[in-house]
Amino acid sequence: MTVSDDRARGQGKGKKKAGRASRVLQILVVHGPNLNLLGKREPEIYGTQTLADIDADLSVLAKELGVEIDSIQSNHEGELIDRIQESMGHADGILINPGGFTHSSVALRDALVATDLPVVEIHLSNVYARESFRKRSYVSPIAIGVISGLGAQGYQFGLEALVKRLT
Ligand code: DQA
Repeated sequence: MTVSDDRARGQGKGKKKAGRASRVLQILVVHGPNLNLLGKREPEIYGTQTLADIDADLSVLAKELGVEIDSIQSNHEGELIDRIQESMGHADGILINPGGFTHSSVALRDALVATDLPVVEIHLSNVYARESFRKRSYVSPIAIGVISGLGAQGYQFGLEALVKRLT
C-alpha cells in the first residue's frame, strides 16, 4: 500500500475525499484492555459475543463497504500506542474501544491526536448510565463521534459512519 498525500487525514478530520478511486480505505480497529475477555466478561453488561465474533462481523461489513480493516487488541497501554503510531502513513481512520483506558489515558489520547486521523469511539455499554468515573473520557473530545450502549452493533454503526465520513 502506497502512502500518498491524498490520504484522508488532517484538516477537517476526514472530511477530505480519499482521492484516487483505486485507493482502498484502511481502517485501524483498536480494542483496549480486557476486551479479549468478551463473551465471558460480565456478559450482562458487555453481551455474549466474543471479540472474534465482533471482528468477524466487522470484516463482513468492511467487505461490503469496500474497505480494509486491521484489528488489534492489547491489554497494554504502550502496545496500543505503538500500534496507533505505526498506523500513521497507512490508516485513513481509527475505530477504537479504549476500554478502561478511556477514562485514564492521556497518552493514548495524545497518540490518537498525533495521527491526525478521524477517530470514532465505541463502547459496548452505556458509560453514562454506569459509575461516575466512566462518564469522563479522554478520547471523546478528540473523536468525530462516540457510540455508547448499543452493544456489538455499535462497532458496525461506527465503521459505517467512519467510512461515510471518509468518502
Ligand atoms: C467499555 C466501557 C469501559 O468503561 C470499560 O472499562 C471497558 C469497556 C465498553 O465497551 O463499554 O472495558 O469501553
